[in-house]
Amino acid sequence: MQLNECPLIDADTIHQRIGEMARQIDQVYAGRHPVLLVTLSGAFLFAADLVRQLRTPVQIEFVRAQSYRGTQSATPLQLTGLNTETVVNRHVIVVEDIVDTGRTAHALTEQLQAHNPASIRLCALLDKPARREVSVTADYVGFAIEDHFVVGYGLDYDGLYRQLPAIHVIEA
Ligand code: IMP
Repeated sequence: MQLNECPLIDADTIHQRIGEMARQIDQVYAGRHPVLLVTLSGAFLFAADLVRQLRTPVQIEFVRAQSYRGTQSATPLQLTGLNTETVVNRHVIVVEDIVDTGRTAHALTEQLQAHNPASIRLCALLDKPARREVSVTADYVGFAIEDHFVVGYGLDYDGLYRQLPAIHVIEA
């Protein structure tokens, strides 16, 4: 696998777009104190930049969402670190790095619904609609991209490249 040095989305463009997303969220949640549920590890940089452009006072919580790809597991998603008390009767914004097949976002939302949140919305930096297997529509999307495997800005390939400030395509 080889990293394409020329970014698909450069750091300035990411920063500017996250500012627009933050303003959108500020408008929708005016007067409320939502919980930002950040999915680790991929969304850590996105969330860090998003919260610093938000004016809405938010509670920040982290969960690790691990999906079992290509298995017949009855539990498609293992969720660790969820403090259920932070979800009950709260307005929850799930922060994801990328919605690909949609399986993670779908399973995560289902698990959260079981704890009776006041509302759940999904905020994803990237969206790959061409890869969707489960119907999921994010409420806030940074960039819709083609069917590329991308790394950087929190996203990894085999644990590497998360630290890149821009988003790059990695090619076979
Ligand atoms: P899902 O297929 O929508 O369930 O996506 C599950 C997870 O796969 C995402 O949260 C990412 O961590 C990872 N993923 C999907 N596409 C990419 C990619 O292009 N680069 C890096 N990680 C990805």
